[in-house]
Amino acid sequence: MQIKIENGAVAFPFSIKINSVTGKMDDYDTHIERFLSTLVSIFSDPDAAEDFIEKNGDTLAYEVYEKNIPEVNGEIRFCSSITYPGKIGNEYFMTKGHFHSRLDTAEIYYCIRGNGCILMEKKDGNPILEDMYPGRVVYVPGYYAHRSINIGDEPLISLPAYPGDAGHDYKSIEDNGFRHIVVEKNGKPALLENPRYGRMGK
Ligand code: F6R
Ligand code: MN
Repeated sequence: MQIKIENGAVAFPFSIKINSVTGKMDDYDTHIERFLSTLVSIFSDPDAAEDFIEKNGDTLAYEVYEKNIPEVNGEIRFCSSITYPGKIGNEYFMTKGHFHSRLDTAEIYYCIRGNGCILMEKKDGNPILEDMYPGRVVYVPGYYAHRSINIGDEPLISLPAYPGDAGHDYKSIEDNGFRHIVVEKNGKPALLENPRYGRMGK
């Protein structure tokens, strides 16, 4: 079903289903796949990411299914976000992460499957890590960069929802990274300072 738009807004109510095992959305408009080869520089040890790909082949780290809801004030965009289990060295597979272009826009993540966390950081503040497991809702306030991290051994599936006009600023994270990373230490996730913070793009 194609969403009908009138006056720049969704014209009719609609519903979709997200498969709670695979995360696949039925009747989606856009499907984004992020393979490790395009994500090497988001990890704190890019050489380890290259080695992983050399050894295991290019690997799907996360994917997103979404409806093309207008990117305007008043609409709510949502998607199915699926981050796969895996690690580069000790660092878990994760999404690129971003600020919203409209910094004051918030977001909620509803976790459907898996075990992980959302890392949130303001431009100059301390990191906040919120757990994700089925049934859990994480509120990401405006001004916080955010990324999903899979710390488990099954897909981490969530439903993020955010204001239509939020927009996405990936560049700040591409250039600087997050100040912190989440790695496995003694079998548990640990939050450490990012040794490459401020020079991720280099
Ligand atoms: C939207 C949002 C999520 C992410 C998705 C993929 O504002 O936060 O829908 O877009 O989890 O992560 P990114 O966008 O960081 O590649
Ligand atoms: Mn977001």
